[in-house]
Order: sequence, then structure tokens, then C-alpha cells
Amino acid sequence: MIVIAGGTGTLGTRLVPRLTRQGHAVRVLTRDPARARHLAERGVEVARGDVRDVASIDRVLRGADTVISAVHGFTGAGGGSPATVDQAGNANLIGAAARAGAALVLVSVVGASPGHPIGLFRAKHAAEEALRASGLPWTIVRATAFMETWATIMGRPLQASGKVLVFGHGDNPINFVSATDVAALVELAVTDPGLRDQVLEIGGPDNLSFNQVAVILQEATGRHGTVRHIPRPALQAMAWLTTAIRPALARQARAALAMDTLDLTFDPAPARRAFPGLPNTDMPLALKELLV
Ligand SMILES: NC(=O)c1ccc[n+]([C@@H]2O[C@H](COP(=O)([O-])OP(=O)(O)OC[C@H]3O[C@@H](n4cnc5c(N)ncnc54)[C@H](OP(=O)(O)O)[C@@H]3O)[C@@H](O)[C@H]2O)c1
Repeated sequence: MIVIAGGTGTLGTRLVPRLTRQGHAVRVLTRDPARARHLAERGVEVARGDVRDVASIDRVLRGADTVISAVHGFTGAGGGSPATVDQAGNANLIGAAARAGAALVLVSVVGASPGHPIGLFRAKHAAEEALRASGLPWTIVRATAFMETWATIMGRPLQASGKVLVFGHGDNPINFVSATDVAALVELAVTDPGLRDQVLEIGGPDNLSFNQVAVILQEATGRHGTVRHIPRPALQAMAWLTTAIRPALARQARAALAMDTLDLTFDPAPARRAFPGLPNTDMPLALKELLV
């Protein structure tokens, strides 16, 4: 039995059918089973649990031989945060997987490190360290930014106001990967025992600036409205003013600033050479699939 925490998310929704198509028994751990109704219809077991609640995950992981962690608390949905979900929640999952006698595949981020300016990256690093020290059979899959996630954030105002949102100057190159490609690599990590105790890094074919993504979005949707830049000082002010009252918004503003300034380029060639069978989705194709 494969248990997926995060099976309802952008990545999880693409991963679950890949595993069931191969005949694996899959159980999705979710805080809200209603969110997983579309998966339950395909014969997937759905179980209520929260990675912050050890008793609930012990219950859900019963009988698991592999656990996949595809959760994050970055957006603050349901009161989570990188500290409570990505760090402490993953530590809870690792403990529960050990009690169940299961291997664990952790989805992390390219660049996860203890001194990273983005809190999520520090929390993922802590989770990676806890997993390596756990004694469990493990695989870590690190991905760059998901095309689908960022195109959705930037393109959401297109519907309402015809505008595309760009954070800061928008000319910093960033590697974006499709969640479809990441799902294919996670599937391999789960099913190939030869990939145990390894860190696998995956990125997409192009390093693109937010300005370039905005143009691709406009072409994909056929809506050529104006591009609205949120200036860096506005992001800084937002991060500062909302820290106490809306920490998730402050986190997003700080991450948007970091994405406008840090080196977030990535060379996808080594992973692509190592796993030539993976899909290699580019941004226009990912947007086409998203719009369908
Ligand atoms: N999006 C990106 O750009 C990106 C880039 C690199 C790596 N990643 C990593 O890829 C993985 C999947 O990300 P995603 O963007 O697909 O996520 P997503 O669409 O934002 O969904 C988040 C998932 O986390 C689950 N979750 C959150 N808090 C939880 C909690 N307290 N207990 C149990 N489940 C919880 C949610 O489940 P319910 O709401 O059903 O409970 C949901 O399935 C994450 O590990 C993320 O860090 C993402």
C-alpha cells in the first residue's frame, strides 16, 4: 500500500493516477476527504489525517509499505506553515513511517539548505536531514518551481480584470518544471528500489523570467491584457506590514521578492540524461494542458 500525503495537490493529483494505472493500491491522506472525491471515484482509498497530528497519521499509515510526502504549508491553508507542515509535519510522517515499517519518498525543493532566505527551503532542508538520519529506506525528489502553480497565480487576475500579475521587475530567470514531469520522477522513485537513499533533482527545459511567463500566458489564453507589476517596495511593505496579522501573505511577498532577485536557474540536463523516459514538458504545453 502506497500512502500519499498531499495526494490532493497539484503534484498529487497527477501522481495518484500514474500509480493506480500500474496496479498499486493507493491511499490518500487529506485533511478534508471532500477534496479527494475525484480520486476516490477511481478506486483510491481516502483517509482523513493531518501531518501535524501524530495519532491521525499513525492511523492512516497502518499497512503502508511506501509513504510519499508531497505536502507543504507555504500558503498557510488550514493554518499550516513551513515550520509546522514541512518541518514538524514531515518529522511526524517520518516517525509514523518508521513505526509502520515503510520507506519514505520526500518531495523537496531544488536549493533546500539551512541558510536559504526562503523559510520553506530551510524547512525542507530540515525534513531532508531528519529523513537521512531516520534509518528508513528513503528517496528525496527535489523540484524547481512548478509551472502550473505559478501560471495559476499570475494568470488568476486575467479572468477578473484581464491583467497578468508579475512580481517585481520580472526579469530574473527562474527554472520552472511541470508537475507532470515531477509526478513521473516520483513514480520512478517509488517503484524502483535502485533509487533508494538518493537525492534526485528535476527541473524543466527552460529558465524563464516572470515577464516571459506573462507573454506565454497571454498567448496560451488569447487574452492580451496589460501586465501589472507589483513593485519591489510594495512587496517589501506587504511582507513587513502583514507579518503579524497575515503570516502566509508576508511569506508569499518575501518569496516573490526572492524570486525576483535570487539565482534560481537550474541545469536540467543531468537528470534528463539519467532518466531519458521522463516527459519534458515546456511552459506552453503545460499551460495548454492546464487550460484543458
Ligand atoms: N508548487 C511548487 O512550485 C513546488 C516546487 C517544488 C516543490 N514543491 C513540492 O511539491 C509538493 C507538492 O506541492 P503542490 O504544489 O502540488 O502542493 P499543493 O497543490 O499546494 O497542495 C498542497 C498539499 O499539501 C497537503 N497538506 C497541506 N497541509 C497539510 C497537513 N497539515 N496535513 C496533511 N496534508 C496537508 C494538502 O492536502 P489537503 O488540503 O487535502 O489536506 C495538499 O494536497 C510539496 O512537497 C511542495 O513543497 C512544490
